[in-house]
Amino acid sequence: KESIGSLKQQLAKLFEESLRAAFPDISDVPPLVAICNDPKNGDYQCNNAMSLWNKIKGKGTQFKGPQPVGKAIVENLPGSDMIENCSIAGPGFINIVLARQWIAKSVQKMLIDGIETWAPKLPVKRTVVDFSSPNIAKEMHVGHLRSTIIGDTLARMLEFSNVEVLRRNHVGDWGTQFGMLIEFLFEKFPNWEAGSTPAIGDLEAFYKASKQRFDSDPDFKERAQKAVVSLQGGEEKYRKAWAQICEISRKEFQKVYERLGVHLEEKGESFYNPYIPKALELLNEKGLIEESEGARVIFIEGKKIPLIVVKRDGGFNYASTDLTALWYRLNEEKADWMIYVTDVGQREHFEMFFSAAKRAGWLPSNENDYPKASHVGFGLVLGEDGKRFRTRSTEVVKLVDLLDEAKSRCKLALEERGKAKEWTAEELDQTAEAVGYGAVKYADLKNNRLTNYTFNFDQMLSDKGNTAVYLLYAHARICSIIRKSGRDIEELKKSGAMDLAHQDERMLGLHLLQFPEIVEEACTNLLPNLLCEYLYKLSEDFTKFYTNCQVVGSAEETSRLLLCEATAVVMRKCFHLLGITPVYKI
Ligand code: ARG
Repeated sequence: KESIGSLKQQLAKLFEESLRAAFPDISDVPPLVAICNDPKNGDYQCNNAMSLWNKIKGKGTQFKGPQPVGKAIVENLPGSDMIENCSIAGPGFINIVLARQWIAKSVQKMLIDGIETWAPKLPVKRTVVDFSSPNIAKEMHVGHLRSTIIGDTLARMLEFSNVEVLRRNHVGDWGTQFGMLIEFLFEKFPNWEAGSTPAIGDLEAFYKASKQRFDSDPDFKERAQKAVVSLQGGEEKYRKAWAQICEISRKEFQKVYERLGVHLEEKGESFYNPYIPKALELLNEKGLIEESEGARVIFIEGKKIPLIVVKRDGGFNYASTDLTALWYRLNEEKADWMIYVTDVGQREHFEMFFSAAKRAGWLPSNENDYPKASHVGFGLVLGEDGKRFRTRSTEVVKLVDLLDEAKSRCKLALEERGKAKEWTAEELDQTAEAVGYGAVKYADLKNNRLTNYTFNFDQMLSDKGNTAVYLLYAHARICSIIRKSGRDIEELKKSGAMDLAHQDERMLGLHLLQFPEIVEEACTNLLPNLLCEYLYKLSEDFTKFYTNCQVVGSAEETSRLLLCEATAVVMRKCFHLLGITPVYKI
């Protein structure tokens, strides 16, 4: 079934019609509909009157001020069962109260037609989400964890909104470090070609050891530098060794992705390598590339240092690859929105090559036009000492260890609550994993991504406050209310009627209906924390409803069970979009 658009969009449509009818001479006035600042005044408001008045006053209009303009807008609204009443306040603000029956009907319709009918409509067709993107032979660190979690959520929200998403893992699989890695492979594992390299196992240690060798032995260094040339020249033996090293890394990365339930398609830096000369030629033809201190560079307005695209030794770098990848995504993959998820430390890099692409005419100069490129920066993960998160003084925290610990702490908590006796071992394990991994993800996503956040197991695994544990339990509790009622919910969806007579029921119903516009806003602004805020508020609204309205055994049982079910459905969709596996019992 087709999506009906968000509540806000549906309201805007009504006001668009009314504006056209009331002011036929003034074209191009987009309806301004927003949530009411003060819920006491109404649910939504339309803010067009004041600016319209400013447009027409003194031009012989019959209107005497913004208030009558507002009145005219209200009078011209097409008939709809959506609105209960409109009132005009102050300088023409139109406060809108939605009809309770309409809210009930819309929620029930979603239950029957599926939550996909609540997918927001976005002005894009195909996007690239470039995320995770660790570097070969180096450990995936917490920064990559943030990129993986945030990128996956953005991809999920866009996919839900019927946008095609190319999930790209832009792994660092090219560059001069491969000379030393390959030479070290030849030296340590003379039989490498027979496939006998499992001993590499710990690729990070291998990287460190080869780096040490590189720094201390001039002969080795020279061989390593020659190896880079052979690799880039496409020599078979070197390509093979390179591929083998990449494959070991890839397997390690894949383990993390599987645990996190994240799907990615690798198109690493090496993929774009053959296209670089052509892309740079296109920039050169536009007169963008200049010579500077032996390097080839692009000067960017407002930046002191130019963007280097060919190094002094003739080699390509991070920027040449990214410019080429952008060209590829625009022209070969025909994407209309390119989204890059990395730490804020790389902001400058992205600003620079986006500017270069604008100068070249690859991207429009107006930020809001498509095709568009956006850098989704995020802050640091801090330890409890307020410094960059580390386990011991020098080592970066290993991702897998974090996930292991989150899971085992959850398992312990479940065992303490006697679940080991109640559940099968498998149930215990799955729940611990869902809650533990969910907690790590949620603790990251609930903050505005630009702020640094402190990694704290006790906090994220608490069952109180704004945590995944609390929310997952809230969901499980709703499921258990429905289960224990003994009613057939599928049957109720079709035969039962919903009525939201109590104000807490109405508030919960309205909050449910706002789900699509929140997803839309989170996508447009690339801010997953908006969805977390929504989810937390939803659980609060549910608690309020459940505290004040008896469900099972009341006269309104059917209607209220349906409201419970709708809440559970929306919560589950939120979890899904946040990459969290819901649990059904606690
Ligand atoms: N490999 C890079 C890093 O670890 C991230 C790459 C991000 N994507 C991009 N197209 N530059 O920092």
